[in-house]
Amino acid sequence: MADPLLSLKNVQAGYGESIVLDGISLDIEEDGSLSVLGRNGVGKSTLLLTIMGFTNVSAGTVTWRGKDITGWLPHKRARAGIGWVSQERDIFPSLTVEENLTVAASPGRWDLKAVYDLFPRLAERRTNMGNHLSGGEQQMLTIARTLMTNPAILLLDEPLEGLAPIVVEELTAAIERMNDQEKMALVLVEQHASVALALTEQALVIERGAAAWAGASGDLVKDQALIDRYIGLNLTGQAKAG
Ligand SMILES: Nc1ncnc2c1ncn2[C@@H]1O[C@H](COP(=O)(O)OP(=O)(O)O)[C@@H](O)[C@H]1O
Ligand SMILES: [Mg+2]
Repeated sequence: MADPLLSLKNVQAGYGESIVLDGISLDIEEDGSLSVLGRNGVGKSTLLLTIMGFTNVSAGTVTWRGKDITGWLPHKRARAGIGWVSQERDIFPSLTVEENLTVAASPGRWDLKAVYDLFPRLAERRTNMGNHLSGGEQQMLTIARTLMTNPAILLLDEPLEGLAPIVVEELTAAIERMNDQEKMALVLVEQHASVALALTEQALVIERGAAAWAGASGDLVKDQALIDRYIGLNLTGQAKAG
């Protein structure tokens, strides 16, 4: 069998001397998708930062396409195809939408036409300045800008946070299309457990930096007691089939 696209084995990581993640393992295939769930402060963002190479890894390994990248710097991981969309929505406020998109673009399947097709609202706003966008449009722009670097995996940190339901629906549809039709691998950190589980095949629940539960999203959807215990949000969605 081929190596997974991304693999973490017993990773211990944190900031300086302080350890946040302890013993995290996961595997993601070329078109795989993983939800990372858990309460505030359990280490979800730290996990994405660790995949990107921004934390101090004190034990375990991070492997990309079978190659040990544990010691790689963030920019090298980005060039290798790991795309990260931070919780911050850090766009360039004084550049237009189109300039934001083209500033860090690399050649590949995701070009202006493809991202405008995925996010028609950005096409309508192409000459607007970054600081003249709604929160939802800014989130679309940060995702689209990362897509323009043509990554092989997209790490999304709470992309739906604070957005109106209609925008959540638009973004959710785009994320679903990226993974289902475009076969983009996905790690989705979310507080909205129901939405996240419907978008992904696998789920990882983190509690105090360790895996409290890992398995198929469809199995987690059925376990309301476990969700109440570790996530504490009501779950009303359907898991992704298959
Ligand atoms: N840059 C940092 N330096 C030191 N500690 C941090 C830093 N970022 C986060 N932490 C700590 O790591 C823990 C996990 O935080 P985080 O990964 O942001 O959680 P989550 O994304 O699940 O809300 C928290 O205790 C937080 O205070
Ligand atoms: Mg976070």
